[in-house]
Amino acid sequence: MEFTAQIEKLKREKNAVILAHYYVDGLIQDVADFVGDSLELARKAREVDCEIIVFCGVYFMAETAKVLNPEKKVLIPYYKAGCLMADMAIVEEIEEFKRENPEYAVVTYVNSSVDVKAVSDICCTSANAVKVVESLENEKILFVPDKNLGSYVAEKVKGKEIRVWNGYCPIHQKLTVEDVRRRKEENPGAPLVVHPECRKEVRDLADFIGSTSQIVRFVKETSAKKVIVGTERGTIHQLKKLRPDVAFIPAYSEFICDQMKMITPERLLKALEREQFEVSVDPEVAKRAEGALLRMLEVK
Ligand code: 13P
Ligand code: SF4
Repeated sequence: MEFTAQIEKLKREKNAVILAHYYVDGLIQDVADFVGDSLELARKAREVDCEIIVFCGVYFMAETAKVLNPEKKVLIPYYKAGCLMADMAIVEEIEEFKRENPEYAVVTYVNSSVDVKAVSDICCTSANAVKVVESLENEKILFVPDKNLGSYVAEKVKGKEIRVWNGYCPIHQKLTVEDVRRRKEENPGAPLVVHPECRKEVRDLADFIGSTSQIVRFVKETSAKKVIVGTERGTIHQLKKLRPDVAFIPAYSEFICDQMKMITPERLLKALEREQFEVSVDPEVAKRAEGALLRMLEVK
């Protein structure tokens, strides 16, 4: 039986739903019930009606799904697929900061561990970070862990003092001004779209800055014939499906998140067959993290 048919059969038998991020293999995106950015996936995970959620993304995303929908069995096809940025903030350091600076609200990017979310006031994603920070009464904000998204928020939000943690995504950080200039010279007139995880100098050269889904929506409407894509290459799979008439050029050729690519079609198949690897979160930690996530989901 071919891959798609096998997956469909197992999904029916097990009453399972596959949620996938844009960065995973295109074959997986094509068999998923829903493909989205981390905000949309979090919302979906909370509302899906099924017995099993197979989360095709990195670990923090599957963990978020479990926190938001604890009754479901949440599986990740490969438990070592972790977000490199998520490891850049640890609970002890945030708690120490909070003790020394109680006037700060801690806003935590979902690309973080559940333990870090549990000591945060509110979470955000790249799609809603500006709105989340604007929604807070606190004047002083600690933004954890992404210094690039944090500096993007600080540029957009007026009247707040925003301190940023020293984390970053090595995959987005690798995109340099030189790469962008080269691509622009090679493709005159092509707009550059970037994720806010890119460094400021790169964002300053962009025609559009947004989360993966926001990039997808921007490109859907573009009149350009070529677009330079400043985020992980997996996104181009959806972009090509939506706009086969447009050429998509990765902003640098190796714009690949190896962690996301650990979620392979073979591992997805095994995950469904064997119901592995189940994500579990300590209930006490989950409860506190859920508070920070729900406060985020309430921000309109
Ligand atoms: P989104 O918020 O666009 O889903 O991005 C998540 C991510 O990990 C980007 O590197
Ligand atoms: Fe994490 Fe970067 Fe991969 Fe996104 S691209 S999941 S931030 S390591």
